[in-house]
Amino acid sequence: MWLFENLDWISLALRWFHVITAIAWIGSSFYFIALDYGLKRPPGIPKELLGEQWSVHGGGFYHIQKYKVAPSHMPQNLVWYKYESYFTWISGFALLAMVYYLGADSLLVDPNVNPISKETAIVTSLIFIIGGWIAYDLMCRSPIGKNPIILGAALLVFIVIAAILASSVFSGRAALLHVGVITASIMTGNVFFIIIPNQKKVVKDLLNQKQPSPHLGLQAKQRSTHNNYLTLPVVLVMISNHYPILFGHQYIWLVTLFLFVIGAIIRHFFNAHHQGLHGVQILWQWPLAFTLAIFLLAFLYHRPEISNLSHEHSVSEDQAFAIVSERCVVCHAQKPQHPDHDAPPLDIRLDNKKYLKRHADAVFSQAVLSNAMPPANETLMTEEERKQLGSWIQQLP
Ligand code: HEC
Repeated sequence: MWLFENLDWISLALRWFHVITAIAWIGSSFYFIALDYGLKRPPGIPKELLGEQWSVHGGGFYHIQKYKVAPSHMPQNLVWYKYESYFTWISGFALLAMVYYLGADSLLVDPNVNPISKETAIVTSLIFIIGGWIAYDLMCRSPIGKNPIILGAALLVFIVIAAILASSVFSGRAALLHVGVITASIMTGNVFFIIIPNQKKVVKDLLNQKQPSPHLGLQAKQRSTHNNYLTLPVVLVMISNHYPILFGHQYIWLVTLFLFVIGAIIRHFFNAHHQGLHGVQILWQWPLAFTLAIFLLAFLYHRPEISNLSHEHSVSEDQAFAIVSERCVVCHAQKPQHPDHDAPPLDIRLDNKKYLKRHADAVFSQAVLSNAMPPANETLMTEEERKQLGSWIQQLP
């Protein structure tokens, strides 16, 4: 079928589109956050204004004013910011379907984690996405939603639970990605179900000469603040799928916890900085984020079962090559035998010793540090073989 023969092209195009829309979304959202925090109230400013900012960009001067609720009359031309978010979600979901649903056998399901069928895995993924939004929305509307700090903490717990659930059904790689998918869907949900509809109600009230309820703005602000704090960690988990050092870990929920806390703290620094805060108020974030990052790294590197493999086994080059020939070469050869591949994946060939040595580091991270390769352990590589391969790589010069 045409589609299946051109998957790579389609996924490349989608990925390109996804990155561009995400840049546009995050870019405009960072801009407005910085603008909001950077508003000034010079003496004599009209009382319906919350504040204003002068800025200069690309050779021109801009004078932006923010209203407390809304202007008394609707302006004729009003620019909305919503398609960046919608298209980021649509392209992201299409990518998820294309890479992880079509390739569910090897990327979504890992029989060592949970031997579910690919249909079950796909349905579970959809339930996570929809259920995640519903649970989050209920949480914001519940009594805990009244206190921003408690709600923030609850949101973090919620994301960690999502990580625990995802890593109990999916492969490590798909699990960490799903943490991102669930969170990013919440972010787009905030724009689609709350922020934009509330804004539309305000516009409608204005057109009817009615005073819009301030609740609409406050609710939108709450959701937009969540989006702001989630941005940095979400981007990181979205790109984590090429890094077994992150998703290959046994405790994906702990990695998630660290990443979201560190990302939010860094974001907080920028928010505080835009507000013009100084002194201690902008001094604690980087040291704290850095310290937590060191803890995370120490935790990720503390793999006693891997750190001294070469002392336990003495493995010859021939033995290592035999393992790879048996478990990897069906796909990673110049002419793969595997029906899904007509060229070596990512141009990585392991069908002779010279190539194996050249890719030794990557092999270590994909097949020893993590079980990312072989995909879904299709060729039934044993733990003992992983250790032997690792010990041979560790003693390479
Ligand atoms: C069933 C086919 C198949 C088998 C068997 C297989 N691989 Fe792969 N390998 C792939 C595919 C597909 C990719 C590309 C994954 C992607 O696009 O992220 C890949 C990617 C890789 C990469 C690059 C990863 C990256 O993101 O940079 C390495 C290294 C690798 N494989 C090593 C191995 C090793 C070592 C084995 C044997 C222990 C192995 N593979 C077995 C299909 C296979």
